[in-house]
Amino acid sequence: MSKILVTGGCGYIGAHTIVDLIENGFEVICVDDNSRSGTSLLEGIEAITGVPVKDYKVDLCNFDDTFAVFQENTDIKGIIHFAAYKAVGESVQNPLLYYNNNLISLINILKCAREFSIPNFIFSSSCTVYGGPDEIPVTESTQLKPAESPYGATKQMGETIVQDVIKASKTMQGVLLRYFNPVGAHPSTLIGEMPLGKPENLVPAITQTAIGKIPELVIHGDNYPTRDGSCIRDYIHVCDIAYAHTLALKHLIDNRNTDKCEVFNLGSGNGVSVLEAIKAFEKVSQTKLNYKIGPRRAGDIVAIYADNKLAKEKLHWLPKYDLDQMMATAWKWELKLHDDEALHSNHNFQMN
Ligand code: UD1
Repeated sequence: MSKILVTGGCGYIGAHTIVDLIENGFEVICVDDNSRSGTSLLEGIEAITGVPVKDYKVDLCNFDDTFAVFQENTDIKGIIHFAAYKAVGESVQNPLLYYNNNLISLINILKCAREFSIPNFIFSSSCTVYGGPDEIPVTESTQLKPAESPYGATKQMGETIVQDVIKASKTMQGVLLRYFNPVGAHPSTLIGEMPLGKPENLVPAITQTAIGKIPELVIHGDNYPTRDGSCIRDYIHVCDIAYAHTLALKHLIDNRNTDKCEVFNLGSGNGVSVLEAIKAFEKVSQTKLNYKIGPRRAGDIVAIYADNKLAKEKLHWLPKYDLDQMMATAWKWELKLHDDEALHSNHNFQMN
């Protein structure tokens, strides 16, 4: 069984990927500082797979602590590096926090990968690297535009750093995965997204509005040059994203890569407007969403969706979940969180 180090494994995409890796026969160790997550998803992972995951609570910006994880695990065959801050608005307010955290952690993990001759490296990138593209769908060779935020800049710089390190290395190869808009939850409802504070992303904002945590969903603009005036994105189920990591790892381990560092878009290939996403949610949840049209959000791109041919051809990736299933699993997860909270407050009430 190959041992894989997953950084940021207590987060949304990391946790779903750990489940997929375990189900495909990998041994996983997790590193997370839990600064933007708890450990509850690790319990969910164990409940789904029956396998407890060895977890290191380590801040990757601390080189010595990071190095110690590698000293204790000299048999790591691959690294999947998710750990990063990802709130666009926060990155605009506090750019140094983002440049420091997202880049120092990446540099430290790459130094360790080089030191311990870890052969395979997968980097979590984002469609944010395309900025506002001139053509859609975007292919992996679509020209990258200046980043719209410091968060986006850390993903662009991160890609360059990984590519340069791999180019200079005799032993390391890698894959950069550009996620479009990951949504939904594991069908078991044992793991899902846990947004901190008021969600900025559309799908958690929809489900939290439907459950009553948010009074009203604000659509950020309906006067864009699109078919219904709202922005177009490429929503992709988080389990499909997770599976792509397993495939990318196997692709590297089996030496099927044609380049030392390949890049793949992970999107469904379908452009969906905000209003269409809301309609799909209303249909599958049988609820009427309370929403209004607000002003445009600064930095929003009008329309972007993926050309995903390369991942299909080279990784044999085939996304399985359609938009309705994305919304249905996101809604089931929100209902489960709501039930858990009710149970918890009832328990506290009885204890008092
Ligand atoms: C955002 C980030 C992107 C990041 C991705 C991670 C921005 C500008 N971009 O992408 O860099 O990689 O998250 O998931 O934040 N919307 C509403 N009302 C809401 C929330 C969203 O109308 O309450 C709209 C947005 O205007 C957008 C669409 O829904 O048109 C999707 O928004 P969101 O989920 O935040 O994703 P992105 O903006 O595509």
